[in-house]
Order: sequence, then C-alpha cells, then structure tokens
Amino acid sequence: MPQQTSQAGQSGDFPPFAQRHLISIADLQQHEIVDLLDRAERMIAISRQERKSLPTLTGKTQINLFFEPSTRTQSSFEIAGKRLGALVVNMSVKTSSVSKGETLVDTAATLNAMRPDVLVVRHSAAGAVELLSQKVGCSVINAGDGAHEHPTQALLDALTIRNHKGRLAGLTVAICGDIANSRVARSNLLLLGALNVRTRVVAPRTLLPAGIENLATEVFTDMEEGLKGADVVMMLRLQHERANGKMIPSVREYYRFYGLDEARLAHARPDAIVMHPGPMNRGVEIDPAIADGPRSVITDQVEMGVAVRMAVLDALLPARNQP
Ligand code: NCD
Repeated sequence: MPQQTSQAGQSGDFPPFAQRHLISIADLQQHEIVDLLDRAERMIAISRQERKSLPTLTGKTQINLFFEPSTRTQSSFEIAGKRLGALVVNMSVKTSSVSKGETLVDTAATLNAMRPDVLVVRHSAAGAVELLSQKVGCSVINAGDGAHEHPTQALLDALTIRNHKGRLAGLTVAICGDIANSRVARSNLLLLGALNVRTRVVAPRTLLPAGIENLATEVFTDMEEGLKGADVVMMLRLQHERANGKMIPSVREYYRFYGLDEARLAHARPDAIVMHPGPMNRGVEIDPAIADGPRSVITDQVEMGVAVRMAVLDALLPARNQP
C-alpha cells in the first residue's frame, strides 16, 4: 500500500489521551480520532520492522474476554498487546465460569481482582461492554458489542482509507449490505461523519435500521445508484446470527441485487478501493474475484487492525496507570 504522507506526531510525542476506555466512537472528539490515527502510523512503522516491539506496556496485563467467537479481532488485539510488551491472557468464554452461569458482573469482579490494566471485551449484547467498564478498575476496550459499536474496526478502516487515498475529508464512502445488524456500519458512520466524509448506506429496505438517515449522508436501496462516484466501497457480511427471521428472500437473490461483482463495481470511481471487515461470505455479498482482485484492500485492513489496536492500547494505558 502507498506510504502515508507525513502526519503530525510521527516523532512519537503525543499529548496524554483524555479517555480511560474506548467503548464508542460516539464518545470521541474529532481531534481524538485523528490522534489515534496518527499514533497508529507510528505503529505501522514498528510493525514493519524486523524487531516489532515497543516497551510501552511492559509490566502491564491485558485480558481479552471474548463472549462471541472471533479470529481476526482477538488475534489482532493479542499481537498488538504483545508487540507493546504486555502480558496478554485470552479468556475464552467456553472455558470460563460464564458457561456455568456466572453473570457478566461477577465475571468482571473476578477479573478485576486479578488487577489487569486493560480488558478487551466482545459481547453479543449491545451495552454489555459499557456496563462492564463501570464495574472494573481498569481500562476497557470494546471489541464489538452486539449491533452497537466496534470502534477499533472503524479506526482501522479510516486508517486504511487515509493511507490509500491520502486524505479522508471530502471522500465518498459507500457502506453496502446488512446495515441494520452491523456494529461496523454504525461505528464507521459515526467516525467518517466526524471527519467530514460523505457517507452512503446501500441496502434493501429490510436491512436498513430506523433513523439511518440521521447517521448517513445519503441512503440508497439501489446498489448501482449507491455506488456511482464512490471513492470507497465497503461491503458488509450478512449477519445471520443477529437477523431475526428472514430479512431477504434468498441468498441467491441477495447476490443478484446487492452482491459486488465487476459490473457493479464499474459504477464506482475507476480508482475506488474495496473493503470488507471479514469474515467474508464469498458469493453472497462479494464476488471472490473482487475480494482477491487488485482493488481489494482487505488484507491491508488486517495489517492496519494491529497498528490501530497498538495505538489504542498505547493511548489508553500509559496516561492513566503510571506508578
Ligand atoms: C466484524 C464483527 O465482528 O462485527 N468482524 C470483525 O470484527 N472482524 C464484522 C462481521 O462479523 O461481519
């Protein structure tokens, strides 16, 4: 991917970050979002070195608490913590007392007694991560709560776009697919809106949540119309696990009208990039030839994910927990 043009703070000197937790993009000021993206630039450079480490979290303990299955987000947070020198513990819920009926708050109290410095939490219920953050004495990072928010995904998406396009403000980003059930869409709309990006959502009516016109600049139900002139095409997975009942007639029909293939992508700008947070349903929302094609930046998103999570850990921890 093209190298980032120079950003403020490349030197590594950032002012203390005022937040203790990262629960929602909605809690961040515009300058805090830019600060995290700039910190992440430095982390990209560290991650491309032979020795991929910084000592900023040495002596600190990070617990990854995932109540929902995850491959990329959990391993990304694990690598991020380890590159910064933290002791990282992965608590999978299947092996924890939660499967024996312990409540979220009891789990929080137990983990809190182990004196972690940061909890990275994914939960299927919107609001669960915020609740947990009120019960513990350490920083809490939301790694996805129900259909509410997934702030580090939005940050890594913004970083990927900024690196490919050289800017964010003034671009047009089309977010396509299962908007109603997507925490990725919500966090992205909040973040991109705060950075003066023109946002579009493109989906069948049944996959658009009420009030979406207050979050997105434009709303489309026709994919070709929605892609016209877009600089970025962000595809979303059909979230079967969160959809109540059938929201689409069939997966085949969905692909016919909303799947991203070469012909449809031709409606976007010729230099448009294609994104997907993963995991992808190939042949459902995206043609494999596009997912693996020259305009796809999906693997760059994964790389940016580690950098952004390093930046968030770096921002939240040292400012608070200095001895
Ligand atoms: C997303 C999630 O979990 O919300 N994936 C991810 O973080 N890698 C999107 C999705 O599951 O479709």
